[in-house]
Amino acid sequence: MSRIQATAPSNIALIKYMGKTSHTENRPSNPSLSWSLNHLTSVVELEATEEPSDRWEPLDQQGYFAPTLSEKGQTRFLDHFQFLKSQLGIEGHFIVRSGNNFPADCGVASSASSFAALTKAAWSWAKANGFEKDMTVEVLSGLSRQGSGSSCRSLFSGWARWEGEGAEECLFPLQNLEHTLVLLDEEKKEVSSSEAHKRVTSSPKFQGRVERATKRLKDLEEALKNSHWKQVYQISLEEFEDMHDLFETSDPPFSYRNQHSRDVTQWVTEFWNSEGDGPVITMDAGANIHLLWRPDQLKLARNFLSSLTDRLPTVRLLHSPGWEKDFRQ
Ligand code: DP6
Repeated sequence: MSRIQATAPSNIALIKYMGKTSHTENRPSNPSLSWSLNHLTSVVELEATEEPSDRWEPLDQQGYFAPTLSEKGQTRFLDHFQFLKSQLGIEGHFIVRSGNNFPADCGVASSASSFAALTKAAWSWAKANGFEKDMTVEVLSGLSRQGSGSSCRSLFSGWARWEGEGAEECLFPLQNLEHTLVLLDEEKKEVSSSEAHKRVTSSPKFQGRVERATKRLKDLEEALKNSHWKQVYQISLEEFEDMHDLFETSDPPFSYRNQHSRDVTQWVTEFWNSEGDGPVITMDAGANIHLLWRPDQLKLARNFLSSLTDRLPTVRLLHSPGWEKDFRQ
């Protein structure tokens, strides 16, 4: 076999990985917890070549958008592949191709899914070529972490918790969540998340951050265990606002939030106040808003999202497939 492919989903953290104790190995300052976005995936293909070194190229395959990767991005991706080759006894050179099933301009970072897919592809290659050592998915997650921290949670398809070397799957009664991405800004970020990890430590609010995130994680796990959706919403809101406050009080300060992100956050709060129910809201290192819904909230989601599109007629919404047909415009 001279070619192999693997896919991995993107993920959205409710407790954020922000701040590192090691920038070279992506060791997090605090534990994090995410939900995998199984409808937003990356695929990586490895093809053995006689060429003198590894190289990257965009994947040309139906159903996938070929990404554009800067020189720096390609080097980072291939460096991780080199690391995986050394860990998994892979010899020879390869053409590494990658693609995403979501367009580059859709505001979803592809680093978590693509580094996780690369790790899985390297593992499949190693297994198919006689690598004898067995490795659990948690150990592979630890390898993926070294490429891009948040990718270690993309080895799992539901809730994933990352504390030390790698992530592990968590089972909570709240499963099969639906996801809506509210696209408010599709420009490339001026401050990368790797840079954000460095900058946040200069914020006076970084003091106590590890304790705050750790406490919230504990509370979130308790809320998820007991299916206390409102608490999940409250903890998640506090957490992403905490992370964005760190960005905005760093030295020098930077911000991903814009007026629309603030408005949507406010409307979600008002919706919860009037309905006593609503979506879990969070933001990544960007201006876009992620909403998570329980499967029984379709009617509620319709109400909220139709008033959202009335107020912001140009907004683009991206839904997980369970609901995509219900919201097709
Ligand atoms: C804001 O995993 O992109 O999305 O380890 O430097 O590649 P590197 O950083 P990255 O950081 C993601 C940060 C975040 C929060 C999260 O996903 O937990």
